[in-house]
Amino acid sequence: MNDAWTPESWRSRPILQVPTYPDAAALGAVEAELRHFPPLVFAGEARRLKRLLAQVAEGRAFLLQGGDCAESFADFHPNNIRDTFRVLLQMAVVLTFGAAVPVVKVGRLGGQFAKPRSADTETIDGITLPAYRGDMINGMDFTSEARIPDPQRMIRAYNQSASTLNLIRAFAQGGYADLHQVHLWNLSFVADSPQGGRYKDLAGRLDEALAFMAACGLTSETTPQIRETSFFTSHEALLLNYEEALARVDSTTGDWYDTSAHLLWIGERTRDPDDAHVEFLRGVGNPIGVKIGPGIEGDELIRLIDMLNPANEAGRLTLIVRMGAEKLADRLPPLIGRVGSEGRRVVWVSDPMHANTVKSSSGYKTRHFDRILEEVRTFFAVHEAEGTYAGGVHFEMTGQDVTECVGGAQAITEANLGARYNTHCDPRLNASQALELAFLLAEILKEGRSRERKREPGRAFATL
Ligand code: PEP
Ligand code: CO
Repeated sequence: MNDAWTPESWRSRPILQVPTYPDAAALGAVEAELRHFPPLVFAGEARRLKRLLAQVAEGRAFLLQGGDCAESFADFHPNNIRDTFRVLLQMAVVLTFGAAVPVVKVGRLGGQFAKPRSADTETIDGITLPAYRGDMINGMDFTSEARIPDPQRMIRAYNQSASTLNLIRAFAQGGYADLHQVHLWNLSFVADSPQGGRYKDLAGRLDEALAFMAACGLTSETTPQIRETSFFTSHEALLLNYEEALARVDSTTGDWYDTSAHLLWIGERTRDPDDAHVEFLRGVGNPIGVKIGPGIEGDELIRLIDMLNPANEAGRLTLIVRMGAEKLADRLPPLIGRVGSEGRRVVWVSDPMHANTVKSSSGYKTRHFDRILEEVRTFFAVHEAEGTYAGGVHFEMTGQDVTECVGGAQAITEANLGARYNTHCDPRLNASQALELAFLLAEILKEGRSRERKREPGRAFATL
């Protein structure tokens, strides 16, 4: 391994899934401009997330990571940001209150604008154009003009990310996330559903607990943990021109951080240990995620782990497993065994979405909610059998009432996918399906914990 890492050392490595910009000078000018923009996150926050993820690695907390498959310029609206945030809060409260597990909350937002694609081109009615690669790169419209990569889109993505993050910070700390607001997070279209009803019951019990705590002197005024929440951002670090421009030296430690988000991950298609994406991310101090599909072998995984986390620091590396239930049952146990026998410290997380994408009879890309739940259940079962900790979930969702994934309590069918199919890339869980997932997770965690208590009576979760 060549140790001479610099923010631009990725440029001499093989690279996949990148656009070809027609005007190199215009690209260079945008990169120079971005280099002068303020960081979006502070390195100290990324370190705090890393410490929280270290708690997850040790089985003392749970990671909830979710949001859009791809953010878009068209859907940039305060209500969308608020609704995604509040569904994540709802899910977190279901897990924290329902299963008594501390939850680390990470959004796929504030920078999730660049997408790997299965093909470089797209053909419709005999016309072939470059693939859409996310709003940070080109436009989704099927015209040759829209599909030309435009570096100015990076500036717009940065600005949208800054505004999104600003609103999220305000919500997280300004009172919206106060546990006394728990009823307010129930979205109107979910409130009348079975999930909404279940949530309402839970919120009622939480109210009683809060009243008891207030009588003991623990109120929003006295206890910041009731009044505010910690929320972190993440995205796939795919467009390295953007990521490099936001890499900064942290003045408190002298280390490099990618200040475009707290956590960055590498996708399944760009995780070759010799390639550019691994090269870039190995040099920044943020917590890092890597997607792993069913094709990865033990040796390759260990090599990847050692490239990205040579100091074997807990919380630095999260492995996001996306294999589909059947392959996962077969492929994951030997990987867990190998990582464990070699003493590597990682967080294991399930992404039950990306191996479950299918084309529906109506032509829409969709995912069956049952398959998603099946992968989650299998992930937990495998970890329990291996004696390791299933540390969290990574999923694509929105707070909107979309019809993109089939199934769930609303019983969305292939025939009605077209009703509200709004995604810019992959099909997302809607708010009701996301809540249903959270209730299932709470049950799995609770049952797993009661079995664990019998084995290990003294074990406790972390205080975050
Ligand atoms: C994604 O998370 O949107 C994605 C493309 O995932 P993967 O790299 O796992 O295919
Ligand atoms: Co996706």
